[in-house]
Amino acid sequence: MTTSIITLQDHEHAAQAALGEAAWAYFSGGAGDEITLRRNVDAWQRLNLSPRVLQDLGGGHTRCHLLGREWPMPLLVAPMAYQRWAHPEGEFGMALAAAAQGCGMVLSHQTSTPLHDVAALVATDAERGPLWFQLYWLADRGTLRELLAQIEAAGFEALVLTVDAAVHGVRDRERRHGMPLPEGVKAVHWPTSAPQNKPSTGLCAGLADAAPTWADVHWLIGQTRLPVLLKGITHPQDALQALSLGAAGVIVSNHGGRVLDTLPATAELLPRIVQAVRQQHPQALVLVDGGLRRGTDLFKALALGADAALIGRPVLYGLAHAGAHGAAHVLRLMRDEFEATMALTGCAQLQNIGIDRLWSQKPI
Ligand code: FNR
Ligand code: LAC
Repeated sequence: MTTSIITLQDHEHAAQAALGEAAWAYFSGGAGDEITLRRNVDAWQRLNLSPRVLQDLGGGHTRCHLLGREWPMPLLVAPMAYQRWAHPEGEFGMALAAAAQGCGMVLSHQTSTPLHDVAALVATDAERGPLWFQLYWLADRGTLRELLAQIEAAGFEALVLTVDAAVHGVRDRERRHGMPLPEGVKAVHWPTSAPQNKPSTGLCAGLADAAPTWADVHWLIGQTRLPVLLKGITHPQDALQALSLGAAGVIVSNHGGRVLDTLPATAELLPRIVQAVRQQHPQALVLVDGGLRRGTDLFKALALGADAALIGRPVLYGLAHAGAHGAAHVLRLMRDEFEATMALTGCAQLQNIGIDRLWSQKPI
């Protein structure tokens, strides 16, 4: 990796140069006209900061305590499928990078590396962030139960059920290039009998028949001792329904603009969900992802009330062109920029980051 790589955007350019056209289309692409994909990034940029000066920064740190454990940093790597298509180190490289930077890792249900091996690599690292597993609903409850047992035994600490992708998004770039997975790269825990989460020719090609409902969420929460978070929540009422069924938290996400285009940006969706949740479920977690490209973006997510955030494509770009080292560098840049933002806005600890650190035209 050259010293000219100093921003997440530099990593993006390096990844585009390193990946083939089809892989680039899959990893970087979004649904429809990619309006939500762009909006996610723009919305964080449009928020302005409002620093306080001369604050006591002594003893500053980024630690927080969530879901019963200490996290070094309120940032996780979002679940992303087929990481061995991006780089041979795949999910191993990603997990090592996250652990090395004290960030969390959410392993995708469509991981191309077995879940036990990924967990075994990092589970005993005392400095790592949380280790979570992301699930898509499987219509066959027996298969799902077996998978849950494997996830629990491997040492994953929470389940993330993704609920915004009942069918595959209409992704033009992906449809043009197809998904020519290299030899030996496949979703190792995806049952061959399950409908493929792939672009379909007919209307949903049977996928919608297997789509989960609230009753299935209720069932899932009853089947596992792990906390369950729902990912892909964009409506405050859905957040409240999830939490009243016993979910531990929600992830405000539009799937990085990959599923349904022209949704609002997550920075726009977050405040209403935070407001609804904090009133009725003060202990629940609210996380957010989509479009974070700077440490200032993570700071803004926390200022809007999120407990933590997830980052997707940029870490995959780091992985794609430089393996674990590249992914770790992306997380390190986020970390350094975030810490600088905390110091320059007068926040020694995460609890000092509040809505008053965002500039508002209305006097606060
Ligand atoms: C994803 N995402 C995703 N989400 C999920 O729940 N399960 C998955 O398997 C995947 N797979 C996946 C693959 C790729 C290539 C990308 C880019 C994304 C969505 C992901 O978890 C997250 O919501 C977004 O990527 C966040 O937006 P940014 O940070 O990429 O802008
Ligand atoms: C994607 C699916 C795997 O976004 O979630 O590509």
